[in-house]
Amino acid sequence: MPRLVLIQPDGEPKDLMVEVGQSVMRAAVVNMVPGIVGECGGELTCATCHVFVDPTWAAHLPRQDEDERDMLDLTSEEPTEFSRLSCQLIMTEEMDGLVVRLPRTQR
Ligand code: FES
Repeated sequence: MPRLVLIQPDGEPKDLMVEVGQSVMRAAVVNMVPGIVGECGGELTCATCHVFVDPTWAAHLPRQDEDERDMLDLTSEEPTEFSRLSCQLIMTEEMDGLVVRLPRTQR
């Protein structure tokens, strides 16, 4: 089971073991990690699952599709080149050790 590290805005890390096939958003929500809302349940209509992927991981993840890029314009915190919607990040074995930082706000 791959490991996921979520870094809170204050720098506090939260380690989770995540089932392959589960999204980063879902893993955070079911483990009650503050900072990920996931209001639309992963339907790509809310942008409340915004994360900043660690730069060392950015090139190793599947690319954003057009819908995700469009929704990133609606995030509460200003997006960066490392921004992703975590409902679109589906864990694989190859993503073991993925590190993402949570924004200060999702709404
Ligand atoms: S959970 Fe709504 S866009 Fe990701």
